[in-house]
Amino acid sequence: MSQNPAVSFHKSVSAESGTLVVLTDETLNFGPETSGLGFADLFRKAAGTADYKGKTLGTLDLLAPAGLRFDRLIVVGLGKAEELVEGDWSRLGGTIQGALRKGEQATLLAERPDGTLVSGEQLAEIGMGAVLRAYSFDRYKSGKNDKEGKDGDSGKAFKAHVKLDIVGGEASKAKKAWVARSAIAEGAILARELVNEPANVLGPVEFAEKAAALEALGVTIETLTEKQMKKLGMRALLGVAQGSVRPPRLVAMHWNGNKSKDKPIAFVGKGVVFDTGGISIKPAGGMEDMKGDMGGAAAVVGLMHALASRKAKANVVGIIGLVENMPDGNAQRPGDIVEAASGVTIEIINTDAEGRLVLADALWYAQKTYEPKVIIDLATLTGAVLVALGSDHAGLFANDDALAAALSRAGEVTGEKVWRLPLGAAYDKLIESKFADIKNTGGRHAGSITAAQFIQRFIDDGVAWAHLDIAGTAMGSPQSEINRSWASGWGVRILDRFVADNYEG
Ligand code: BES
Ligand code: MN
Ligand code: ZN
Repeated sequence: MSQNPAVSFHKSVSAESGTLVVLTDETLNFGPETSGLGFADLFRKAAGTADYKGKTLGTLDLLAPAGLRFDRLIVVGLGKAEELVEGDWSRLGGTIQGALRKGEQATLLAERPDGTLVSGEQLAEIGMGAVLRAYSFDRYKSGKNDKEGKDGDSGKAFKAHVKLDIVGGEASKAKKAWVARSAIAEGAILARELVNEPANVLGPVEFAEKAAALEALGVTIETLTEKQMKKLGMRALLGVAQGSVRPPRLVAMHWNGNKSKDKPIAFVGKGVVFDTGGISIKPAGGMEDMKGDMGGAAAVVGLMHALASRKAKANVVGIIGLVENMPDGNAQRPGDIVEAASGVTIEIINTDAEGRLVLADALWYAQKTYEPKVIIDLATLTGAVLVALGSDHAGLFANDDALAAALSRAGEVTGEKVWRLPLGAAYDKLIESKFADIKNTGGRHAGSITAAQFIQRFIDDGVAWAHLDIAGTAMGSPQSEINRSWASGWGVRILDRFVADNYEG
């Protein structure tokens, strides 16, 4: 995939024209090399006129700056230097990318005004933020993509190419760090693509084919058909799929980057390519958003792409359950009782609580096949998590405090934040069924928690498990410095970091 913008790292500024981007902070000073370029007076005057204060990611744009060899000078603020956090570097890259026009050639002199060095990792984070920001989904806007706006080989739609040279003292470390950062950006963009694509284009079979394409990166792929799932007794997943004319799939993606025989970490994703609610049909308003109900599966595919592309030294398996939830003469009914592959019997109260049914069998398959010690599932599972947390945090549930802490930490450093919610016997009681072992809804209250309790019923003893409810974060979240598209690709960055920090030594 050719990348946009084309990011590269350099030790010194070589460009003679184009756009120069420099960094200041609330002191409105510049580092020594930047100061040497001789625009201090010009800047001070413009800053006074524009009331520019150097606040975090605030920009001052100077066109055709007199006396400078560059066509344009963009000053970006870092706010209070001591308050900068790790996630700010990718946001900085996104801000710069957002300021550039198509075809623009830009050089960022990444020098901090207080003299502290921008590390190689941070330089690479800037590049990653720029790439994430450049992504947009306008494949279906006719006319818009015919020219340079579309990435030739992948068909991905991007804002027309810009070139971003990032200059810093640790350029050679940045080049090494870039291998991972660009892989992560690609993975997140892949996840966004899968979420943004409509369900008529990506049904379960087509989605499974996209996942299977990871084989080219050295990922081992196994795809289960409906027939194979029947044989395994996956009646919870199949019950959801039976109202659709499009057959379900389950895909396992295995990356063995750690040559030891260590059991893998398992990531399991809900992949409902479209969720009408089934017989318990949803209201029409906003139902189109349910094309994104495979955000969990998309994140798992994007994560596997990132891990394999950067050759992560960890053993990881990604498992996704792909179905379409439709109303139909053959659809599942409220009151139906199904037996999941694990043997647990489930009374269907509401056919719109389908994600947990898909996860039940996908989790069972993950444990039986790969014996993971750690399982993390991702799912756009409940509207209730939006009520509780909105779009700024995903809901986190876990049966293991260390695992929860590791995920919270990874969320903080990447900016894909999680907030832990409780589990417990009193909530578990709410899913007891009159007729079967459990029922698939828990009543009006604590909807995200009772959904998590349901999932926990399918986790074996001794397995550390975390569940991420991403209904509020996978799509439709407010635009940010690093994302302008409806789909966010949420999950790729936090989980890549989780793997890097906890399993790659
Ligand atoms: N896919 C939805 C959850 C959802 C809602 C995702 C909004 C993204 C945005 C899920 O399958 C669902 O319908 N959940 C129900 C559960 C209820 C029937 C117990 C819900 O949240 O209303
Ligand atoms: Mn539903
Ligand atoms: Zn759903």
